[in-house]
Amino acid sequence: MARILLGVCGGIAAYKAAELVRAATARGHSVRVIQTETSLRFVGRATFEAITGAPVLVDEFEQDPARGAFPGEPPPTHAPISHLELVARCDAYCIAPATANTLAKIAGGHADSLVTTAALACRAPIVVAPAMNEAMWLAAQTRANVARLRKLGIRVVPPAEGRLASPGEWGVGRLAEPERILAVLEEVLEHRERSRVADGESGGAIAGSVRDLAGVRVIVTAGGTREPLDAVRFIGNRSSGRMGVALAEAALRRGAQVTLIGANLAVDPPAGVDYVPVVTVEDLAHALDERFAAADVVLMAAAVSDFRPARVWDDKLERGNSLAVELEPTEDLVAGLAARRRPGQLVIGFAAEHGGDFVARAREKLRRKRLDAIVANDVSQPGIGFESADNAVVMISRDGRERSVGPTSKLEVARAILDEVARLRASVVLQSESR
Ligand SMILES: Cc1cc2nc3c(=O)[nH]c(=O)nc-3n(C[C@H](O)[C@H](O)[C@H](O)COP(=O)(O)O)c2cc1C
Repeated sequence: MARILLGVCGGIAAYKAAELVRAATARGHSVRVIQTETSLRFVGRATFEAITGAPVLVDEFEQDPARGAFPGEPPPTHAPISHLELVARCDAYCIAPATANTLAKIAGGHADSLVTTAALACRAPIVVAPAMNEAMWLAAQTRANVARLRKLGIRVVPPAEGRLASPGEWGVGRLAEPERILAVLEEVLEHRERSRVADGESGGAIAGSVRDLAGVRVIVTAGGTREPLDAVRFIGNRSSGRMGVALAEAALRRGAQVTLIGANLAVDPPAGVDYVPVVTVEDLAHALDERFAAADVVLMAAAVSDFRPARVWDDKLERGNSLAVELEPTEDLVAGLAARRRPGQLVIGFAAEHGGDFVARAREKLRRKRLDAIVANDVSQPGIGFESADNAVVMISRDGRERSVGPTSKLEVARAILDEVARLRASVVLQSESR
């Protein structure tokens, strides 16, 4: 969970800031809102106060009843608190929507309102999401201001193209979707957290760390199943379980409650997970059946045998003449889970593909199995995938988004996969709330 300060400016899109706050709080962040005077003409304080559960500030001279505390924090006992206490305590400052006026002021170093003063005083990363009509966005002054902001290290989430506020108006200038703004914010927060860890500032548990899966119940399957042939032999695969274990570890760090169902792992499960060891596809199916209903997210990273011997010999087969073994198909576990998931549950599949247009095959599996996303890798590439410490994947989500990650460590890949899971989860949470 991170502390996000949101500055709201005076434009039509101010109402969309409420959606952004809802999405951010649904992901476990604590949010405080400050508004420009003009923004009050578009959306009142009460809306943000209701969603954040905290007072909204507009004027630099007004006292903050919460004394700079973010929701979930006890208010400090000491007073007086500076009007800049909120920005001093935040992990990121986001201005959305940012008007042309406020962008210009920040680019010029003006500090004539709480929103602009906070920007000047802010040591945390700043993200601005402009919204205005197309002529204002394309004006040379605005373009120069945006270029200046980028140069100052401020992250700009550009407006999108579409219908604008005035009747019949179409063009570039719409506020980026709240989910997109949140994804950028979380990317910035994650980057900041990593730099702080690299600088030795934190043990990974500081207040600013991204705990966007706090309380989310995640099942990760890992390793490779083994299907017995006789008393000592089996048909299996080379999966070590490292990718699944990295996912479990990364999910734990983001605050999730993790169940790791491990099939014949070659590595230790991380401390803190509920570990369920299994051997065969059937064992895995039972373990999933028992736990699936209570899960919010299932990450099916295990390499599950597609076939099993139709006959299993009780004794050890003795050396002798050639032996024909008939294989029968196993159940498609991930497709089965996707078919019976409840609204809000996410089922993410993994596809270890061998060469060719592996992304096209993965897209087809995503569609056929009705998954929320699929993570595909090409195991014919040397140095990645099975048994290796690194991986390179393409993650395809049901909304068509495709993201390539790596080659990099499996923990880095796991982080990127969980970024996408958090994004998908925010959208299902929003959808179920608006029903
Ligand atoms: C109905 C209406 C809609 C407006 N919408 C926008 C807008 O979307 N973007 C923008 O930059 N300015 C917009 N403006 C102009 C701003 O409100 C104006 O520049 C104001 O000074 C911004 O103040 P602030 O930056 O302190 O919030 C709008 C004005 C009106 C009257």
